[in-house]
This record gives sequence, structure tokens and C-alpha cells, in this order.
Amino acid sequence: MKRVPSASTALGYAHTANQINLGKKMTKDAFRLISPGGTETDLPVLSGTVGPDVIDVGKLYKEQGVFTYDPGYVSTGSCESDITYIDGEQGILMYRGYPVEQLAEHSSFLEVSYLLLHGELPTADQLRSFDKTIRTHTMLNEGMLNFFKGFRYDAHPMAMLSAVVGSMSAYYHKEMDASNPEHRDIFAHRILAKLPTIAAAAYKLNTGQPFMYPQNDLNYCENLLHMLFAVPAEPYEIDPIAAEALDLLFILHADHEQNCSTSTVRMAGSSGANPYSAIAAGISALWGPAHGGANEAVLNMLEEIGDASQIHRFVAKAKDKNDPFRLMGFGHRVYKNFDPRATIIRDMAHKVLEKLGRSDTPMFDLARELEHVALNDDYFIEKKLYPNVDFYSGIIYRALEIPTSMFTVMFAIGRSVGWTAHWREMISDPTARISRPRQLYTGPTQRDYVPIAKR
Ligand code: ACO
Repeated sequence: MKRVPSASTALGYAHTANQINLGKKMTKDAFRLISPGGTETDLPVLSGTVGPDVIDVGKLYKEQGVFTYDPGYVSTGSCESDITYIDGEQGILMYRGYPVEQLAEHSSFLEVSYLLLHGELPTADQLRSFDKTIRTHTMLNEGMLNFFKGFRYDAHPMAMLSAVVGSMSAYYHKEMDASNPEHRDIFAHRILAKLPTIAAAAYKLNTGQPFMYPQNDLNYCENLLHMLFAVPAEPYEIDPIAAEALDLLFILHADHEQNCSTSTVRMAGSSGANPYSAIAAGISALWGPAHGGANEAVLNMLEEIGDASQIHRFVAKAKDKNDPFRLMGFGHRVYKNFDPRATIIRDMAHKVLEKLGRSDTPMFDLARELEHVALNDDYFIEKKLYPNVDFYSGIIYRALEIPTSMFTVMFAIGRSVGWTAHWREMISDPTARISRPRQLYTGPTQRDYVPIAKR
């Protein structure tokens, strides 16, 4: 980096603005920024309903000629949102104000989806009607199924999911007017209803089995299990424990405020792009091992560790600055105490394995031993690295006989409603603008073109 920040820039706290109500957010104070030249700018401090205040730096460039700099957005709020709240210090996660623990215990994925999309828990009639709507959107246009014939038999299902969801923008372009609330609803219903069908089609391609059409008399997770595991040649009995476990996992994955994939959906959608393409972009972002791809990486890592006797070797590798290896499923940008989803999933893994008669799963024992070693290690304690949502989810998926390559696809099905809710929130905000960050340029200054013969 070629520029050194000026040491004389002072950031002081000033009490200039009275409380001004700006819709849901409030300004109470202002940060006074004084440049080295003495120009003063009062930056409004905005308060939400709960959580840290934010400094609105929107006028900084205009008044002071500088940008803020925060790679990775560690201290940056990118938008106002009333969907999901996280307190990383306390390990709190709430959807529309409801703690995730309560929703996990009492609710269902479809009820949570309604809550995320509409802001309130549904009445019994509203839930029935929502459920019926989702069930009637489960089929794919037959033409869409042809895409799967073009993929190689071993194509990664996340790549297929992203591509086929992206293709929905081709099927539903003319009838998708983002300014029309009814179109926004239909978009949400299609995403929620069709993702399991697309996911199952990808899995069937990988296994060489025929595609199974959805059966709309089954509930959301039963239908997914049917499309994944049934074959036309024989009856398939859905295990209610498996359906229940999936439902709970989807609740826990449903939303997580401005994470990488959700921010991607918002950013892609902010240009006015077709929202199905924005969801496809979110799926691609989720696939990375630092994000939703970690659940697949955790199982691969546990397989590589193989045996409890190797744990210390791998923990030492994770701590070694010269080794790129990280303990997958550990650490989180926001949670610095514990990830409440991981706690629920660990308990659930235990129960599910027991109910399925697989409580002797060595993989679960290995994961618990690894967690124990890491949580008692100074490196992990100092850096506040705890198991995240992905650490134990793979153990459950494995017990449900879902292959490792499908783990992140399952995450995407659950998260699809969060992405959709955020896109709807962004697009309905009359003050929303295209997302367009700036940069600190460190490339060459102006120079003249040199003809090829003289280089
Ligand atoms: N193993 C070993 N060391 C780690 C780990 C880990 N899993 N995670 C973080 N660290 C260390 C880093 O090396 C860094 O050390 P340093 O300060 O000495 O440089 C420090 O902890 C901070 O890590 P960052 O990468 O700066 O933290 P950031 O907030 O940017 O990244 C992330 C968070 C990506 C989740 C990271 O912890 C990680 O890579 N974890 C493993 C992958 C994973 O499980 N991802 C799933 C996240 S949950 C989700 O998205 C659904």
C-alpha cells in the first residue's frame, strides 16, 4: 500500500443533531470528523432497535474527499434491514425478533419462511394457504430438465444448482416486474418450491437414476426425500425422523443477515438484474469453503483425519502460520462466543443418530473429540474460534445418507428463503441505490502507450 493515513485526522464525538426520526432508524448524535485542513463534517449516528449504532458516512467523500476503507466489511453496515439480528458476542440469532432456539423447537421451515418473507408469524389459515401455494409450484418446466442432459455425470451439484436457477431468469423474464408486489411474491414462491426439485434432479444425474417428479401430497421435506431417494421401480418409505431433521436444519439455515451470499444477492439485485440471476449469484457465493461449502469441507477433513490419534497433528497444522490448512467448521466473522446454530445442531446430531440407530457413528465421536481438543487449545481460545453451523450439519446429512457433495446444496435450499426475503426488502426500499463500492487505487499512475515493437 502506497498511502499512509494522515496521523492528524481526528475523529471526535460531537453532540450536534437532535433525535430525528428517519423511518425505522433514528439519528441521535453525530461523529465529527476533522480533516488535517480543519474542515469539519458531522456524520449522523444512526440507531436501530437493538445492536451497535452505525455512522452514516454517505456524505464523507462529497465533503472531505476521502473514502472509508474496510476490506471484508468488518466494520461496515451495508444496508438497513428488519429481517434478522445477530449478536456475535452473546451468541444470539433472531429472525424477525424471534430467537432461533424457539423457532427450532416450536416452528416449521415453511412457517419460518412465511415469517421471513412477510415479517409476522402466519395464522393457521395463512400457513395453510402458503403451504398449498408452495406445493403447487414444485414442478419444473420440462425444458428446464433438459439442462441436466448437458452436464457431465459427475458435475458438482452446486454448479448445476447455480446454473439451473440462473436459467429460471430465462423462463421468467417477461413476467418478472420487480416493481410489482405480486410478481415479487410469485418469485419467492417459485424459488422456495423449485429449489428442492432442481437439487434432487442434480443428485439423480450424479447417481444415474431417473428423475422423480415431486409429489404434492407430501410436505416440503418429505417431498425432497422422495425426489432424492425414491426410484420408479419400487415403493419408497419416507423416514419421518429424516424429514424432521431436514426441517430443523432448514430452519437453522434460513437466514443470517448480511453474510457473503446474501450480500451477493443484494448486490446483484441492486442493479435491477432479474432476481433469479441474483439468487444464482448467491448460490455461487455460498459454494466457497469459507462460507456454505464448509459443511462439505468438514466431512472431507474428518475423513482425512481418520482417527482420534491424528487430531493433535491436524490442530497443530491449523495453528501453523506457514500451513494454509484451517480447521473447517471452526471460526466465524460475527460469532465470537458460540454459534447458537452449532449448539442446536450438535444436540440434534446426537438425537438423530440415536433415533436412526446409528449412535455408534465414529465420525460423530471424532468430531466431538476434535471440538473438545480445539476448545481447550490456547490458539482457538485466544482467537475466539468456536464450531460454526457447518461443523455438525454434515454428520446429520451423512446419517440421512445424503452424499457429501450435496451438503452445500441442502444449505442453499434452506438459505434460499433468506436470500429471497433480502432481495424483496432491498427492491421494495424506495431509497435503495445500486451497490457500488469505491477502492484505494495502488496501480500505476498515468503513462503513455508503448508500441509493441518497442517493448
Ligand atoms: N482454523 C485455524 N485458524 C483460524 C480459523 C480456523 N478455522 N479461522 C480463523 N482462524 C484464524 C486466522 O488464521 C486468523 O489468525 P491471525 O489473526 O493470526 O491472522 C484469525 O483466526 C482470524 O481469522 P480471519 O480469517 O481473519 O477471520 P474472518 O472473520 O475473516 O473469517 C471464517 C471467518 C472465514 C469463517 C474463518 O474463521 C474460516 O476460514 N473458517 C473455516 C471455514 C468455515 O468453517 N467457514 C464456515 C463459516 S460459517 C458459514 O459461512 C455458514
